[in-house]
Amino acid sequence: MSAPLGYDLIVQQLIPGYASLARLAVALLAASPLASRTGAGVLVAGCGTGAELVEARAQRPDWQLTAIDPSAEMLAAAQKRLGSEGIQWRQTTVEELQADACFAGALSVLVLQSLPDDGTKLAFLTALARSLEPGGQLVLVDLMAPERSPLQNQVDAAWLGFQRASGLEAEPRDLEPLTQGLHPIGEARLNALVNAAGFSDPARIFQALSYEGFLLQRRP
Ligand SMILES: C[S@@+](CC[C@H](N)C(=O)[O-])C[C@H]1O[C@@H](n2cnc3c(N)ncnc32)[C@H](O)[C@@H]1O
Repeated sequence: MSAPLGYDLIVQQLIPGYASLARLAVALLAASPLASRTGAGVLVAGCGTGAELVEARAQRPDWQLTAIDPSAEMLAAAQKRLGSEGIQWRQTTVEELQADACFAGALSVLVLQSLPDDGTKLAFLTALARSLEPGGQLVLVDLMAPERSPLQNQVDAAWLGFQRASGLEAEPRDLEPLTQGLHPIGEARLNALVNAAGFSDPARIFQALSYEGFLLQRRP
């Protein structure tokens, strides 16, 4: 994904709850048994323009942060925001990272949703689990497929209302990376995938319309 013009504003106007997501995700990880340790290693997978990194720096300046993203434009935007010092920057995917048991915790916000469920999601989650120490935790936030409900039309209408009320006026092409080519899955499928990848069952920690967040722990 390339960094669309105005990504940081667009994402807040498009995604309900986004403004507090990074804060919540970092606070959760900081309360985990392993990542609460001073100087814990934390992976930000798909760091984009750096929202989670800004929050991690503010809440836990002692964390050893590794920020990865396959997009050179996204990484450049994040580095501009945070400066290149004090963070290990890598232009790569999680699957290519090869960092076995290196991290006490990891964050993955709005990344899994863009990967097809043809083995790619499982490979991503397996690589994330492998990168964590046993007992390490992952905060995963993603667009989820809607459950079958007669009220789903209302949820969809509310999402459009949220965007209008937030003043979203972006060109459709600037929204494409966040709205097109997505592969959301339902909760049962997510449970199956994370279990196969080596995580325990997810605990839901956030929901705003169809965006949901989960806390996962690598099995010993
Ligand atoms: C929608 S952006 C989210 C960025 C940031 N986490 C946020 O919340 O604003 C998704 C990011 O994931 C990156 N990405 C896509 N596939 C990835 C993979 N396999 N491993 C790591 N990052 C990936 C994209 O390049 C993009 O920057």
